[in-house]
Amino acid sequence: MRFAVFHALVALWVLWRFWIPLPISRGAKAAGFLATLAAAAFPAATALFCGGLISPELPAWVLVVGNGCDFALVMLGALTLAREAVIFFSVLAGRKGERLHAFVQKDRRVALGMAAAAAGLSAFGIHEGIRVPDVRRMDLAMKDLPEGLEGLTIVQLSDLHASALLTEPHMAALVERVNSLNPDLIVLTGDIVDGTVSAREKDVLPLADLRAPLGVFACEGNHEHYIDYDGWLARYRELGIRVLRNEWVALERNGARLTLGAVTDPWARRFGREFPDPVKAFAGSPSGVPRVLLSHQPKHARLFDDAVRFDVQLSGHTHGGQIVGMDRGVAVLNGTFVRGWYELRRARLYVHSGSGLWNGFPVRLGIPSEIALFTLKRAS
Ligand SMILES: [Fe+2]
Repeated sequence: MRFAVFHALVALWVLWRFWIPLPISRGAKAAGFLATLAAAAFPAATALFCGGLISPELPAWVLVVGNGCDFALVMLGALTLAREAVIFFSVLAGRKGERLHAFVQKDRRVALGMAAAAAGLSAFGIHEGIRVPDVRRMDLAMKDLPEGLEGLTIVQLSDLHASALLTEPHMAALVERVNSLNPDLIVLTGDIVDGTVSAREKDVLPLADLRAPLGVFACEGNHEHYIDYDGWLARYRELGIRVLRNEWVALERNGARLTLGAVTDPWARRFGREFPDPVKAFAGSPSGVPRVLLSHQPKHARLFDDAVRFDVQLSGHTHGGQIVGMDRGVAVLNGTFVRGWYELRRARLYVHSGSGLWNGFPVRLGIPSEIALFTLKRAS
């Protein structure tokens, strides 16, 4: 509902301040009106008639074109707002500003430039949003790391969002890139799929090919709760992905041990499922062993750090904020965490920028997706 209202307001703004003052023929203006309304209606129409807001079941190219037009409209709305600021100051300038006022508001070349810029930003943003992510290599320093764990590599994937947009070929390419890194351990920090088990059957199959000697583990994300939760937990098991829900596993390499724990997602409560419990997630695990915590959402990291000892928390959920500028708002909604490293009171937090994104907003500008590759090092 909020999405629909937002898009309706953007459409009205663009009709009022972009199309109406534009000196073009009635026919061209009518075409502009229709295109604006169609772009604004796309998210609501897919949610109502094509399988719901979370996972509309449409061909990928329809989702690209529809969401691309929708985002171009939002960009045009933002550029029109910026133009209003120029007009405001040109009016303040009195007679000196008259020529500038007429140029920015009435010259068709300005309007064409704005429309081209909006379309270009949208096309580039979608290309960035749906491409196979690059690898981001980082050292993960831990105090008192046992010698046997030094050099251990962990791949973190997050927010894959396999969907009608990010389908089987995309997932296969991503899995191939991950396997080429030969990681010791692979973790997925939630939001693995969007859609029903049957609709995504083919798209998630490549995940069964993820290879790591210590295993493939996951924590649930909020999107796991939206559609077919129990069906997906069973399907992940079949694919070789073990989902940890407020529990831990002991991993061993060269005689040295590592404890991997994971909490559930806060959305669990809305569905009468188990709430995230970091104490339970490590209950009974050995002391003096390095601990890694998986938590889809980063926002409770400080509370978790106060509640139980662990060395590093790996999270996702924010998608890094997706767009420079918008990321500041995403940080506010997520306990100030949006992407990269954060120091907690005792532990550290890494917030992954996402290896995919939700098909309803498949745009990235300035904040690329990633495959995070950590190499464990002893802190000096
Ligand atoms: Fe996500």
